[in-house]
Amino acid sequence: MSTAYDVIKPLHGTAFGAAVRLRAPLSQGLPKDLPAVLAEAGGVLVIPGLGEIAAKPELLLALSREFGPEVEDYRYTLTQRSSVHTTVPEIFLVSNMAPVNRAPPKRPEPPLTADGRLPVQYPHRRGWHSDQSYRRPPPDISLFYAVTPVARERGQTLFADGTAAYSALPATLKDKVDRLEGLHCQPGMGRSREAVLSGQVPAEQPPHARSQRQPVVRRHPVTGKPALYLCEWGQMDWVDGPFVGMEPGPHGRGAALLDELMAHYTRPEFVYVHEWTAGDLVVWDNRCTVHAATWYDGDNEQRMMWRTTVRGNPGPLYAGEKRSWVPA
Ligand code: OGA
Ligand code: MN
Repeated sequence: MSTAYDVIKPLHGTAFGAAVRLRAPLSQGLPKDLPAVLAEAGGVLVIPGLGEIAAKPELLLALSREFGPEVEDYRYTLTQRSSVHTTVPEIFLVSNMAPVNRAPPKRPEPPLTADGRLPVQYPHRRGWHSDQSYRRPPPDISLFYAVTPVARERGQTLFADGTAAYSALPATLKDKVDRLEGLHCQPGMGRSREAVLSGQVPAEQPPHARSQRQPVVRRHPVTGKPALYLCEWGQMDWVDGPFVGMEPGPHGRGAALLDELMAHYTRPEFVYVHEWTAGDLVVWDNRCTVHAATWYDGDNEQRMMWRTTVRGNPGPLYAGEKRSWVPA
């Protein structure tokens, strides 16, 4: 038996995404056709009220399998063991609690927006990315579940609509980016914009952790719609990139174009701000959206979130490719 649901569109304050309200618990049957709802909504689904997952993490794995054939097992992706769930290794822990201890992002400095909030737009807000864009083929979809969220207005997750952002680009910029490739880099390699600006010497990249080219515009394999595919300070290669064939480095022409594109991508009208409640699940499509975590007071608040990653349908461009992250 499958669980019926209602779809409410779009997400609050935006023109994309959808909220899905299940009419019965997950344990009575998995909801069907959610991938089609996700694609149709432009790549973000919010499913509240799933408190049962916290007690039964296998339900998150079962639901993840509805979104694609391959749910990543973090024992085989060079992930730190302390960030892998002990009984369901397909669950990655995002938390400041021991033993994970991942610190929250920095708090952006004022100025605040006219309504007194922290702004969402790059470059004021940083940390915008698509999950593991430094791998080829990159993953398709992520599921993110709130076990222990923090207070409102902090520890949020922001989502930007890459399909709408691409479509709103002026024709001259579309022409410029249509055949352009970005160079994406795994964090911690000394190639982030911050690392390069501080004069850090980049680490030697082993073959399976080399920076990877990705198209700046990706045609979605399910909807056929073009969307921007980009990251910023922490997940582009600022030594040889951010763009292939353009002046590299943090002060080059590539940097100027990236700043222009990311500021456009994260314009407030393209952004959904998710305030977490325990039991919320958010599903996002990494092929046509970017997201960013926001600050919380890590000294006084505890946050525990669970993530799964689904892969297997990156589009024809990647057909038959060997996985870049698997050591030879
Ligand atoms: C992630 C991520 C955002 C957050 O786990 O991929 O970007 O709000 N998390 O912690
Ligand atoms: Mn992420």
